[in-house]
Amino acid sequence: MDYSIESSPLDKLQSDCLLVGIYENQQLSPAATQLDSQFGGLLSKLIGRGDIRGKNAETLMINNLPDGNIARIVLLGFGERGKVTRKQYRKALAAAIKIVKDSKVSAASCALLDIDVNGADSQWKARQVVEVFNDGLYQYSATKKVDDKNPLQKLAVVADDSQQALAESGLQQGIAIARGMELAKHLADLPGNICTPTHLAEQALALAGEHDKLTCEILEESDMEALGMGSFLSVSRGSRQPAKLICLDYQGGDSNAKPIVLIGKGLTFDAGGISLKPGLGMDEMKYDMCGGASVLGLVRMATLLNLKLNIVGLIPASENLPDGAANKPGDIWTSMSGKTIEILNTDAEGRLILCDTLTYAKKYNPDVVIDMATLTGACIVALGRVPSGLFGNDDKLCNDLLSAGDAACDLVWRMPIWEEYQEQLKSNFADLANIGGPDGGSITAAVFLSKFAEEYRWAHIDIAGTAWRTGANKGATGRPVPLVSQYLLNRASA
Ligand code: BES
Ligand code: MN
Ligand code: ZN
Repeated sequence: MDYSIESSPLDKLQSDCLLVGIYENQQLSPAATQLDSQFGGLLSKLIGRGDIRGKNAETLMINNLPDGNIARIVLLGFGERGKVTRKQYRKALAAAIKIVKDSKVSAASCALLDIDVNGADSQWKARQVVEVFNDGLYQYSATKKVDDKNPLQKLAVVADDSQQALAESGLQQGIAIARGMELAKHLADLPGNICTPTHLAEQALALAGEHDKLTCEILEESDMEALGMGSFLSVSRGSRQPAKLICLDYQGGDSNAKPIVLIGKGLTFDAGGISLKPGLGMDEMKYDMCGGASVLGLVRMATLLNLKLNIVGLIPASENLPDGAANKPGDIWTSMSGKTIEILNTDAEGRLILCDTLTYAKKYNPDVVIDMATLTGACIVALGRVPSGLFGNDDKLCNDLLSAGDAACDLVWRMPIWEEYQEQLKSNFADLANIGGPDGGSITAAVFLSKFAEEYRWAHIDIAGTAWRTGANKGATGRPVPLVSQYLLNRASA
Protein backbone atom coordinates (compact mmCIF):
# COMPACT_ATOMS: atom_id res chain seq x y z
CA MET A 1 0.00 0.00 0.00
CA ASP A 2 1.10 3.46 -0.86
CA TYR A 3 0.10 6.27 1.53
CA SER A 4 0.52 9.93 0.70
CA ILE A 5 -0.69 13.46 1.44
CA GLU A 6 -2.92 15.11 -1.18
CA SER A 7 -2.70 18.89 -1.14
CA SER A 8 -4.90 19.85 -4.11
CA PRO A 9 -8.05 21.73 -3.16
CA LEU A 10 -11.25 19.70 -3.54
CA ASP A 11 -12.32 21.44 -6.78
CA LYS A 12 -9.05 20.38 -8.47
CA LEU A 13 -8.70 16.98 -6.87
CA GLN A 14 -8.68 13.84 -9.00
CA SER A 15 -10.05 10.81 -7.22
CA ASP A 16 -11.52 7.38 -7.94
CA CYS A 17 -13.12 7.48 -4.54
CA LEU A 18 -13.26 10.39 -2.11
CA LEU A 19 -14.28 9.94 1.51
CA VAL A 20 -15.94 12.81 3.36
CA GLY A 21 -17.73 13.05 6.70
CA ILE A 22 -21.26 13.67 7.89
CA TYR A 23 -22.45 14.18 11.47
CA GLU A 24 -25.62 12.94 13.07
CA ASN A 25 -28.73 14.92 12.07
CA GLN A 26 -27.38 15.12 8.56
CA GLN A 27 -24.88 17.90 9.13
CA LEU A 28 -22.21 17.83 6.44
CA SER A 29 -18.52 18.30 7.27
CA PRO A 30 -16.75 21.29 5.64
CA ALA A 31 -15.35 19.08 2.87
CA ALA A 32 -18.73 17.46 2.27
CA THR A 33 -20.38 20.89 2.17
CA GLN A 34 -17.95 22.00 -0.51
CA LEU A 35 -18.56 18.85 -2.57
CA ASP A 36 -22.29 19.36 -2.21
CA SER A 37 -22.04 22.74 -3.90
CA GLN A 38 -19.59 21.40 -6.51
CA PHE A 39 -22.16 18.75 -7.42
CA GLY A 40 -25.15 21.12 -7.41
CA GLY A 41 -26.67 19.98 -4.12
CA LEU A 42 -26.48 16.26 -4.85
CA LEU A 43 -25.42 15.32 -1.31
CA SER A 44 -28.19 17.41 0.25
CA LYS A 45 -30.69 15.74 -2.05
CA LEU A 46 -29.58 12.24 -1.01
CA ILE A 47 -29.63 13.04 2.70
CA GLY A 48 -32.93 14.84 2.24
CA ARG A 49 -34.53 11.61 1.08
CA GLY A 50 -33.03 9.82 4.09
CA ASP A 51 -30.25 7.76 2.49
CA ILE A 52 -27.88 8.51 5.37
CA ARG A 53 -28.37 10.11 8.79
CA GLY A 54 -24.78 10.49 9.95
CA LYS A 55 -24.78 7.97 12.78
CA ASN A 56 -21.35 6.71 13.73
CA ALA A 57 -19.93 4.24 11.18
CA GLU A 58 -22.85 4.65 8.76
CA THR A 59 -21.73 4.73 5.11
CA LEU A 60 -23.19 5.74 1.77
CA MET A 61 -21.40 5.18 -1.53
CA ILE A 62 -22.37 7.57 -4.32
CA ASN A 63 -20.97 5.96 -7.44
CA ASN A 64 -22.96 7.50 -10.25
CA LEU A 65 -21.53 11.01 -10.45
CA PRO A 66 -21.52 13.18 -13.58
CA ASP A 67 -18.25 12.91 -15.54
CA GLY A 68 -15.49 14.88 -13.85
CA ASN A 69 -12.46 14.56 -11.62
CA ILE A 70 -14.21 12.65 -8.88
CA ALA A 71 -15.62 9.24 -9.76
CA ARG A 72 -17.15 8.21 -6.44
CA ILE A 73 -17.93 9.77 -3.07
CA VAL A 74 -18.26 7.87 0.19
CA LEU A 75 -20.21 9.70 2.87
CA LEU A 76 -19.07 8.49 6.25
CA GLY A 77 -21.05 9.00 9.46
CA PHE A 78 -19.23 10.10 12.63
CA GLY A 79 -22.05 10.64 15.13
CA GLU A 80 -23.05 13.71 17.07
CA ARG A 81 -21.06 16.83 16.26
CA GLY A 82 -18.91 17.97 19.19
CA LYS A 83 -19.11 14.55 20.79
CA VAL A 84 -17.08 12.40 18.40
CA THR A 85 -14.57 10.37 20.43
CA ARG A 86 -11.26 8.96 19.20
CA LYS A 87 -12.76 5.49 19.37
CA GLN A 88 -15.69 6.60 17.20
CA TYR A 89 -13.37 8.17 14.65
CA ARG A 90 -11.54 4.86 14.34
CA LYS A 91 -14.79 2.91 14.22
CA ALA A 92 -16.03 5.04 11.32
CA LEU A 93 -12.74 4.52 9.48
CA ALA A 94 -13.02 0.77 9.96
CA ALA A 95 -16.50 0.89 8.39
CA ALA A 96 -15.11 2.98 5.51
CA ILE A 97 -12.41 0.48 4.67
CA LYS A 98 -15.06 -2.24 4.23
CA ILE A 99 -17.05 -0.28 1.69
CA VAL A 100 -13.91 0.88 -0.15
CA LYS A 101 -12.69 -2.73 -0.36
CA ASP A 102 -16.04 -3.90 -1.71
CA SER A 103 -16.10 -1.16 -4.34
CA LYS A 104 -12.86 -2.57 -5.85
CA VAL A 105 -11.31 0.86 -6.40
CA SER A 106 -7.51 0.93 -6.60
CA ALA A 107 -6.99 4.47 -5.30
CA ALA A 108 -8.94 6.36 -2.64
CA SER A 109 -8.62 9.74 -0.93
CA CYS A 110 -9.75 10.73 2.56
CA ALA A 111 -10.90 14.28 3.29
CA LEU A 112 -11.48 13.51 6.94
CA LEU A 113 -9.06 15.75 8.83
CA ASP A 114 -11.84 18.32 9.18
CA ILE A 115 -13.90 16.11 11.50
CA ASP A 116 -14.02 17.45 15.10
CA VAL A 117 -12.65 14.72 17.32
CA ASN A 118 -12.39 15.37 21.06
CA GLY A 119 -8.76 15.71 22.04
CA ALA A 120 -7.32 14.95 18.61
CA ASP A 121 -5.36 17.06 16.12
CA SER A 122 -4.64 16.54 12.40
CA GLN A 123 -1.53 14.54 13.20
CA TRP A 124 -3.50 12.01 15.21
CA LYS A 125 -6.25 11.83 12.58
CA ALA A 126 -3.84 11.33 9.68
CA ARG A 127 -2.08 8.62 11.64
CA GLN A 128 -5.32 6.81 12.41
CA VAL A 129 -6.38 6.84 8.77
CA VAL A 130 -3.24 4.89 7.88
CA GLU A 131 -3.36 2.58 10.91
CA VAL A 132 -7.01 1.67 10.55
CA PHE A 133 -6.89 1.27 6.78
CA ASN A 134 -3.76 -0.85 6.87
CA ASP A 135 -5.28 -3.01 9.58
CA GLY A 136 -8.47 -3.48 7.58
CA LEU A 137 -6.54 -4.41 4.45
CA TYR A 138 -4.32 -6.99 6.18
CA GLN A 139 -4.74 -10.37 4.56
CA TYR A 140 -2.95 -13.51 5.72
CA SER A 141 -1.62 -15.29 2.63
CA ALA A 142 1.51 -17.21 3.69
CA THR A 143 -0.09 -20.66 3.55
CA LYS A 144 -3.44 -20.02 1.87
CA LYS A 145 -4.50 -18.91 -1.59
CA VAL A 146 -6.45 -15.67 -1.42
CA ASP A 147 -8.58 -15.22 -4.50
CA ASP A 148 -9.78 -11.68 -4.12
CA LYS A 149 -6.54 -9.81 -3.65
CA ASN A 150 -6.92 -6.30 -2.40
CA PRO A 151 -7.53 -3.93 -5.29
CA LEU A 152 -6.82 -0.84 -3.15
CA GLN A 153 -3.21 0.21 -3.78
CA LYS A 154 -3.17 3.90 -2.96
CA LEU A 155 -4.57 5.99 -0.20
CA ALA A 156 -4.19 9.76 -0.07
CA VAL A 157 -4.95 11.87 2.98
CA VAL A 158 -6.32 15.24 1.87
CA ALA A 159 -4.79 18.12 3.85
CA ASP A 160 -5.05 21.85 3.28
CA ASP A 161 -2.12 24.24 3.85
CA SER A 162 -2.83 24.74 7.53
CA GLN A 163 -2.97 20.98 8.17
CA GLN A 164 -0.01 20.03 5.94
CA ALA A 165 2.81 19.72 8.51
CA LEU A 166 0.87 17.83 11.15
CA ALA A 167 -0.76 15.61 8.54
CA GLU A 168 2.62 14.71 7.04
CA SER A 169 4.16 13.71 10.37
CA GLY A 170 1.00 11.84 11.35
CA LEU A 171 1.12 9.98 8.05
CA GLN A 172 4.74 8.93 8.62
CA GLN A 173 3.95 7.79 12.15
CA GLY A 174 0.95 5.88 10.87
CA ILE A 175 3.00 4.14 8.19
CA ALA A 176 5.66 3.11 10.70
CA ILE A 177 3.15 1.82 13.26
CA ALA A 178 1.18 0.05 10.54
CA ARG A 179 4.32 -1.68 9.24
CA GLY A 180 5.18 -2.70 12.77
CA MET A 181 1.70 -4.13 13.32
CA GLU A 182 1.85 -5.88 9.97
CA LEU A 183 5.07 -7.67 10.94
CA ALA A 184 3.67 -8.60 14.35
CA LYS A 185 0.44 -9.95 12.86
CA HIS A 186 2.16 -11.86 10.08
CA LEU A 187 4.55 -13.66 12.43
CA ALA A 188 1.78 -14.33 14.95
CA ASP A 189 -0.58 -15.83 12.36
CA LEU A 190 2.10 -18.19 11.03
CA PRO A 191 1.74 -21.76 12.33
CA GLY A 192 4.06 -23.11 14.99
CA ASN A 193 5.78 -25.48 12.58
CA ILE A 194 6.94 -22.53 10.47
CA CYS A 195 7.36 -19.82 13.07
CA THR A 196 9.85 -21.59 15.34
CA PRO A 197 12.34 -19.89 17.68
CA THR A 198 14.89 -20.18 14.85
CA HIS A 199 12.47 -18.47 12.44
CA LEU A 200 11.94 -15.58 14.87
CA ALA A 201 15.71 -15.24 15.24
CA GLU A 202 16.10 -15.12 11.44
CA GLN A 203 13.45 -12.40 11.21
CA ALA A 204 15.27 -10.36 13.85
CA LEU A 205 18.57 -10.72 11.99
CA ALA A 206 16.89 -9.68 8.73
CA LEU A 207 15.36 -6.64 10.45
CA ALA A 208 18.79 -5.62 11.74
CA GLY A 209 20.10 -5.82 8.17
CA GLU A 210 17.66 -3.08 7.14
CA HIS A 211 18.99 -0.33 9.40
CA ASP A 212 22.53 0.64 10.32
CA LYS A 213 21.67 1.78 13.84
CA LEU A 214 20.18 -1.63 14.61
CA THR A 215 22.21 -4.70 15.57
CA CYS A 216 21.08 -8.17 16.52
CA GLU A 217 22.74 -10.87 18.57
CA ILE A 218 21.27 -14.34 19.06
CA LEU A 219 22.12 -16.18 22.27
CA GLU A 220 22.11 -19.96 21.75
CA GLU A 221 21.28 -22.55 24.42
CA SER A 222 24.99 -22.99 25.18
CA ASP A 223 25.32 -19.22 25.79
CA MET A 224 22.32 -19.30 28.10
CA GLU A 225 23.77 -22.29 29.91
CA ALA A 226 26.95 -20.30 30.53
CA LEU A 227 24.88 -17.38 31.87
CA GLY A 228 23.06 -19.71 34.27
CA MET A 229 19.61 -19.33 32.75
CA GLY A 230 18.35 -22.55 34.31
CA SER A 231 14.75 -21.37 34.43
CA PHE A 232 14.52 -20.45 30.72
CA LEU A 233 16.34 -23.61 29.61
CA SER A 234 14.07 -25.85 31.70
CA VAL A 235 11.21 -24.88 29.36
CA SER A 236 13.00 -25.71 26.10
CA ARG A 237 14.25 -29.10 27.38
CA GLY A 238 11.10 -30.81 26.16
CA SER A 239 11.39 -29.44 22.63
CA ARG A 240 13.43 -30.45 19.60
CA GLN A 241 13.59 -26.84 18.47
CA PRO A 242 16.53 -25.05 20.08
CA ALA A 243 15.63 -22.04 22.20
CA LYS A 244 16.99 -18.62 21.27
CA LEU A 245 17.36 -15.40 23.18
CA ILE A 246 17.03 -12.67 20.56
CA CYS A 247 18.75 -9.41 21.48
CA LEU A 248 18.11 -6.35 19.31
CA ASP A 249 19.92 -3.10 19.99
CA TYR A 250 18.74 0.13 18.35
CA GLN A 251 20.98 3.12 18.99
CA GLY A 252 18.93 6.08 17.79
CA GLY A 253 19.63 8.31 20.79
CA ASP A 254 22.65 9.80 22.54
CA SER A 255 25.32 7.21 23.14
CA ASN A 256 25.11 7.78 26.89
CA ALA A 257 21.29 7.75 27.14
CA LYS A 258 19.94 4.76 29.06
CA PRO A 259 17.91 2.44 26.83
CA ILE A 260 14.25 1.54 27.01
CA VAL A 261 14.24 -2.25 27.17
CA LEU A 262 11.30 -4.04 25.56
CA ILE A 263 10.87 -7.73 26.36
CA GLY A 264 8.41 -9.99 24.50
CA LYS A 265 7.39 -13.55 25.32
CA GLY A 266 8.24 -15.61 22.26
CA LEU A 267 6.72 -19.00 23.05
CA THR A 268 6.20 -20.26 19.50
CA PHE A 269 3.91 -23.06 20.65
CA ASP A 270 2.58 -23.72 24.13
CA ALA A 271 1.16 -27.22 24.56
CA GLY A 272 1.52 -26.84 28.32
CA GLY A 273 4.33 -29.41 28.58
CA ILE A 274 3.74 -32.37 30.93
CA SER A 275 0.86 -30.34 32.44
CA LEU A 276 -0.69 -30.73 29.00
CA LYS A 277 -3.42 -28.31 27.95
CA PRO A 278 -6.86 -29.63 26.91
CA GLY A 279 -7.23 -30.14 23.16
CA LEU A 280 -9.98 -27.64 22.44
CA GLY A 281 -8.52 -24.44 21.03
CA MET A 282 -4.94 -25.56 21.55
CA ASP A 283 -4.06 -24.37 18.02
CA GLU A 284 -4.36 -20.83 19.37
CA MET A 285 -1.26 -21.41 21.45
CA LYS A 286 0.73 -20.66 18.30
CA TYR A 287 -0.09 -17.08 19.35
CA ASP A 288 1.94 -17.46 22.53
CA MET A 289 4.74 -15.55 20.78
CA CYS A 290 2.67 -12.40 20.21
CA GLY A 291 4.69 -10.45 22.77
CA GLY A 292 7.90 -11.29 20.92
CA ALA A 293 6.34 -10.47 17.55
CA SER A 294 5.22 -7.11 18.95
CA VAL A 295 8.76 -6.32 20.07
CA LEU A 296 9.96 -7.00 16.51
CA GLY A 297 7.16 -4.76 15.22
CA LEU A 298 8.07 -2.00 17.66
CA VAL A 299 11.73 -2.11 16.74
CA ARG A 300 10.73 -1.89 13.08
CA MET A 301 8.52 1.11 13.89
CA ALA A 302 11.38 2.85 15.73
CA THR A 303 13.82 2.33 12.84
CA LEU A 304 11.31 3.54 10.22
CA LEU A 305 10.85 6.79 12.14
CA ASN A 306 14.52 7.04 13.13
CA LEU A 307 13.33 7.64 16.69
CA LYS A 308 15.90 9.47 18.78
CA LEU A 309 15.88 6.87 21.52
CA ASN A 310 18.00 3.91 22.50
CA ILE A 311 15.85 0.80 22.49
CA VAL A 312 16.79 -2.76 23.35
CA GLY A 313 14.46 -5.59 22.30
CA LEU A 314 14.82 -8.93 24.06
CA ILE A 315 12.80 -11.96 22.94
CA PRO A 316 13.12 -15.26 24.78
CA ALA A 317 11.94 -17.78 22.15
CA SER A 318 11.09 -21.39 22.88
CA GLU A 319 8.46 -24.09 22.52
CA ASN A 320 6.73 -25.72 25.50
CA LEU A 321 6.13 -29.39 24.69
CA PRO A 322 5.99 -32.65 26.61
CA ASP A 323 8.71 -35.26 26.12
CA GLY A 324 11.04 -37.42 28.22
CA ALA A 325 13.35 -34.53 29.00
CA ALA A 326 10.59 -32.01 29.67
CA ASN A 327 10.01 -30.21 32.96
CA LYS A 328 8.03 -32.28 35.46
CA PRO A 329 5.85 -30.90 38.26
CA GLY A 330 8.04 -30.73 41.34
CA ASP A 331 11.27 -30.10 39.43
CA ILE A 332 13.42 -27.32 40.83
CA TRP A 333 15.76 -25.11 38.80
CA THR A 334 18.09 -22.28 39.63
CA SER A 335 17.39 -19.09 37.68
CA MET A 336 20.06 -16.67 36.48
CA SER A 337 19.26 -14.46 39.49
CA GLY A 338 20.24 -17.31 41.82
CA LYS A 339 16.66 -17.78 43.04
CA THR A 340 15.46 -21.40 42.90
CA ILE A 341 12.03 -22.12 41.39
CA GLU A 342 9.78 -25.11 41.99
CA ILE A 343 7.80 -25.96 38.87
CA LEU A 344 4.36 -26.89 40.16
CA ASN A 345 2.73 -26.57 36.76
CA THR A 346 4.77 -26.85 33.57
CA ASP A 347 2.13 -24.77 31.75
CA ALA A 348 3.17 -21.68 33.71
CA GLU A 349 6.23 -21.46 31.44
CA GLY A 350 6.02 -17.85 30.28
CA ARG A 351 7.24 -16.49 33.62
CA LEU A 352 10.07 -19.06 33.55
CA ILE A 353 11.52 -17.75 30.29
CA LEU A 354 10.77 -14.12 31.17
CA CYS A 355 12.39 -14.14 34.62
CA ASP A 356 15.83 -14.98 33.24
CA THR A 357 15.36 -12.37 30.51
CA LEU A 358 14.44 -9.76 33.15
CA THR A 359 17.66 -10.62 35.00
CA TYR A 360 19.65 -10.43 31.77
CA ALA A 361 18.16 -6.98 31.04
CA LYS A 362 20.13 -5.50 33.95
CA LYS A 363 23.28 -5.57 31.88
CA TYR A 364 21.87 -2.78 29.67
CA ASN A 365 21.46 -0.44 32.67
CA PRO A 366 17.89 0.26 31.50
CA ASP A 367 15.93 3.47 31.96
CA VAL A 368 12.74 1.39 32.04
CA VAL A 369 11.86 -2.20 31.16
CA ILE A 370 8.49 -3.03 29.61
CA ASP A 371 7.58 -6.65 29.01
CA MET A 372 4.64 -7.84 26.94
CA ALA A 373 3.38 -11.38 27.19
CA THR A 374 0.41 -13.63 26.52
CA LEU A 375 0.95 -14.70 30.09
CA THR A 376 -2.29 -15.87 31.70
CA GLY A 377 -5.74 -17.13 30.80
CA ALA A 378 -6.71 -15.57 34.14
CA CYS A 379 -6.15 -12.11 32.66
CA ILE A 380 -8.97 -12.81 30.19
CA VAL A 381 -11.20 -13.89 33.08
CA ALA A 382 -10.41 -10.66 34.93
CA LEU A 383 -10.59 -8.10 32.13
CA GLY A 384 -12.13 -9.79 29.10
CA ARG A 385 -10.67 -9.01 25.69
CA VAL A 386 -10.94 -5.21 25.78
CA PRO A 387 -7.90 -3.89 27.67
CA SER A 388 -4.58 -5.59 28.23
CA GLY A 389 -3.56 -6.04 31.88
CA LEU A 390 -0.99 -3.56 33.17
CA PHE A 391 1.24 -4.22 36.18
CA GLY A 392 4.33 -2.41 37.37
CA ASN A 393 6.55 -1.18 40.16
CA ASP A 394 6.55 2.50 39.12
CA ASP A 395 3.49 4.76 39.11
CA LYS A 396 4.91 7.26 36.61
CA LEU A 397 5.70 4.53 34.09
CA CYS A 398 2.28 2.92 34.57
CA ASN A 399 0.48 6.26 34.22
CA ASP A 400 2.46 7.06 31.08
CA LEU A 401 1.40 3.71 29.61
CA LEU A 402 -2.23 4.22 30.64
CA SER A 403 -2.41 7.58 28.87
CA ALA A 404 -0.51 6.27 25.85
CA GLY A 405 -3.12 3.52 25.62
CA ASP A 406 -5.94 6.06 25.71
CA ALA A 407 -4.36 8.18 22.99
CA ALA A 408 -3.64 5.17 20.77
CA CYS A 409 -7.02 3.51 21.46
CA ASP A 410 -5.08 0.41 22.52
CA LEU A 411 -6.27 0.20 26.10
CA VAL A 412 -4.62 -1.13 29.23
CA TRP A 413 -6.04 -1.39 32.75
CA ARG A 414 -3.83 -1.39 35.81
CA MET A 415 -3.89 -4.26 38.28
CA PRO A 416 -2.17 -4.46 41.70
CA ILE A 417 0.97 -6.38 42.62
CA TRP A 418 0.73 -5.79 46.39
CA GLU A 419 3.13 -7.77 48.56
CA GLU A 420 0.23 -9.65 50.20
CA TYR A 421 0.06 -11.77 47.04
CA GLN A 422 3.60 -13.09 47.58
CA GLU A 423 2.19 -15.59 50.12
CA GLN A 424 0.68 -17.50 47.22
CA LEU A 425 4.08 -18.10 45.61
CA LYS A 426 5.72 -19.73 48.65
CA SER A 427 7.28 -23.16 48.20
CA ASN A 428 8.48 -25.64 50.82
CA PHE A 429 11.40 -26.61 48.64
CA ALA A 430 12.46 -23.55 46.62
CA ASP A 431 12.64 -19.77 46.88
CA LEU A 432 9.56 -19.43 44.71
CA ALA A 433 6.81 -21.62 43.28
CA ASN A 434 5.93 -20.98 39.64
CA ILE A 435 2.17 -20.84 40.30
CA GLY A 436 0.10 -19.17 42.99
CA GLY A 437 -3.09 -21.22 42.95
CA PRO A 438 -6.43 -20.43 41.33
CA ASP A 439 -6.99 -16.97 42.87
CA GLY A 440 -5.82 -13.86 41.04
CA GLY A 441 -3.82 -15.81 38.48
CA SER A 442 -2.75 -12.87 36.33
CA ILE A 443 -1.64 -10.99 39.45
CA THR A 444 0.44 -13.81 40.94
CA ALA A 445 2.12 -14.27 37.54
CA ALA A 446 3.03 -10.57 37.54
CA VAL A 447 4.15 -10.75 41.18
CA PHE A 448 6.43 -13.66 40.22
CA LEU A 449 7.99 -11.48 37.48
CA SER A 450 8.32 -8.51 39.83
CA LYS A 451 10.75 -10.50 41.99
CA PHE A 452 13.18 -10.40 39.07
CA ALA A 453 12.63 -6.73 38.23
CA GLU A 454 13.39 -5.08 41.55
CA GLU A 455 16.43 -3.14 40.39
CA TYR A 456 14.80 -0.96 37.73
CA ARG A 457 11.51 0.70 36.77
CA TRP A 458 9.40 -2.03 35.21
CA ALA A 459 5.98 -2.61 33.67
CA HIS A 460 4.36 -5.81 32.48
CA ILE A 461 1.56 -5.94 29.92
CA ASP A 462 -0.49 -9.15 29.88
CA ILE A 463 -1.87 -9.38 26.34
CA ALA A 464 -3.52 -12.82 26.67
CA GLY A 465 -6.94 -11.36 25.82
CA THR A 466 -5.92 -8.73 23.29
CA ALA A 467 -3.15 -10.09 21.04
CA TRP A 468 -5.47 -12.14 18.86
CA ARG A 469 -9.16 -12.60 18.07
CA THR A 470 -10.65 -16.00 18.77
CA GLY A 471 -13.62 -17.56 16.92
CA ALA A 472 -14.70 -17.25 13.29
CA ASN A 473 -12.61 -14.14 12.73
CA LYS A 474 -9.49 -15.68 14.29
CA GLY A 475 -6.36 -13.66 13.68
CA ALA A 476 -3.65 -11.57 15.27
CA THR A 477 -4.46 -7.96 16.21
CA GLY A 478 -0.98 -6.46 16.37
CA ARG A 479 -1.63 -5.20 19.90
CA PRO A 480 0.11 -3.77 21.92
CA VAL A 481 2.18 -2.22 19.09
CA PRO A 482 0.00 0.95 18.92
CA LEU A 483 0.11 1.45 22.69
CA VAL A 484 3.85 1.00 23.10
CA SER A 485 4.51 3.00 19.90
CA GLN A 486 2.61 5.90 21.44
CA TYR A 487 4.67 5.58 24.62
CA LEU A 488 7.90 5.61 22.58
CA LEU A 489 6.73 8.58 20.48
CA ASN A 490 5.91 10.46 23.68
CA ARG A 491 9.34 9.63 25.10
CA ALA A 492 11.09 10.68 21.90
CA SER A 493 9.37 14.07 21.87
CA ALA A 494 9.77 14.73 25.61
N1 BES B 1 0.19 -18.98 27.25
C1 BES B 1 -0.57 -19.32 28.38
C2 BES B 1 -1.58 -18.23 28.76
C3 BES B 1 -2.79 -18.12 27.88
C4 BES B 1 -3.81 -19.06 27.91
C5 BES B 1 -2.92 -17.03 27.06
C6 BES B 1 -4.92 -18.90 27.11
C7 BES B 1 -4.05 -16.86 26.26
C8 BES B 1 -5.05 -17.81 26.28
C9 BES B 1 0.33 -19.52 29.60
O1 BES B 1 1.57 -20.09 29.31
C10 BES B 1 -0.36 -20.48 30.48
O2 BES B 1 -0.55 -21.60 30.10
N2 BES B 1 -0.77 -20.02 31.65
C11 BES B 1 -1.50 -20.82 32.56
C12 BES B 1 -0.99 -20.53 33.94
C13 BES B 1 -1.49 -21.49 34.98
C14 BES B 1 -0.91 -22.87 34.77
C15 BES B 1 -1.07 -20.97 36.34
C16 BES B 1 -2.96 -20.47 32.41
O3 BES B 1 -3.29 -19.30 32.17
O4 BES B 1 -3.79 -21.37 32.49
MN1 MN C 1 1.50 -22.20 29.30
ZN1 ZN D 1 2.32 -19.77 27.46
